[in-house]
Amino acid sequence: MKILSIETSCDDTGISIMEVKGGITNASFTVLANNVSSQIDIHIPYGGVFPALAKREHIKNLPIILGKTLKEAKLNKKNKPVDLITVTHGPGLEPTLWTGITFAQELAKKWNVPIMPVNHMEGHMLSIFANKKKKFKISKIKNPTLALLVSGGHTELVLIKKWMNYEIIGQTLDDAVGEAFDKVARMLNLPYPGGPQISLLAEKARKDKLRITNNELRIKLPRPMLYSKNLDFSFSGLKTAVLYLVRDIGPIETLNEKTKAQIALEFENAAIECLVHKTKKAIEKYKIKTLIVAGGVSANKHLKNEMEKTTSAKAGQAGKKVKLFFPTQELTGDNSLMIGIAGYLNYIKNKKKVPTINSIKATGNLRL
Ligand code: KG4
Ligand code: ZN
Repeated sequence: MKILSIETSCDDTGISIMEVKGGITNASFTVLANNVSSQIDIHIPYGGVFPALAKREHIKNLPIILGKTLKEAKLNKKNKPVDLITVTHGPGLEPTLWTGITFAQELAKKWNVPIMPVNHMEGHMLSIFANKKKKFKISKIKNPTLALLVSGGHTELVLIKKWMNYEIIGQTLDDAVGEAFDKVARMLNLPYPGGPQISLLAEKARKDKLRITNNELRIKLPRPMLYSKNLDFSFSGLKTAVLYLVRDIGPIETLNEKTKAQIALEFENAAIECLVHKTKKAIEKYKIKTLIVAGGVSANKHLKNEMEKTTSAKAGQAGKKVKLFFPTQELTGDNSLMIGIAGYLNYIKNKKKVPTINSIKATGNLRL
């Protein structure tokens, strides 16, 4: 069957079409067309996503991207070009989610096809199944699986004993890790979106470490909740520590590039250490066989390196048995392929329980 997938939970408009077949463990996907239109340039002057503007852009872009996607997939929009529509219904910005849902509902009525609503975070989790090749098959994964989902709005550890059954065993008590990266970037006068900018600065500082001498400023930031007994995270104190640091040694305009890079490096080290430490703890506690790291922050190189170390043969008994999956770099951010994968798997699982078209609604704080 063919699936059209739509993603509009934040500032990326994504539409894709895939040909899919198979059951939950052996599903195979052929990408016929995949497009994502980023709104970054529009939001830069605001230093973050401006919801009303994001909604307007989605409304403008959706029909254009749909036309392009159908054309690339060599399908005609007048006939019934697909058999199923999948769309993100949360979590995310409600005004932008509604844009995607309303668009999906119009198409579903016109083509007389069902809609499968998809949780954006489940999409991120399953994005590891897609790859650069146009054709891919869901690989056999050994459970229990642990997913560390890290994005602009979420930081959660999810336990999967059986596919499509999720238990959140740890989460942030305040800011999401991506949000902390973005806010620290703003404190350092770096443009939106801040995560990749901080990460670039930190990478550079890590490489240049020999040039940072002991006589210079020693920057040490806290690792909140590192040794707490639970599997939860907290990033708000870390963010505030950067704020105080910049206030004490700043103003920011007076800090040289090297100092900014040192702050970025120490911030990245602290944030990633918290993520890795709790993940390691969860791996040991639940005797995890597979680790998935997904969501926008999974693009972070330091996070990937540290997780590779944690799950390598050298990491001891616990790490030895863990197989690690990250999405390919271009699928770390928001895209609709991941929505298609999650939507299809839920569709074949719940075929008899597909919601009516008009009952689908946006839920900004939707949980897994
Ligand atoms: O999943 P995503 O694209 O959108 C949401 O669902 O939120 O995640 C976006 C987040 C932003 O906070 C962005 O700054 C962060 O992912 N991000 C990164 C990196 N690339 C994107 N954070 C750290 N290092 C990166 N390389
Ligand atoms: Zn996302």
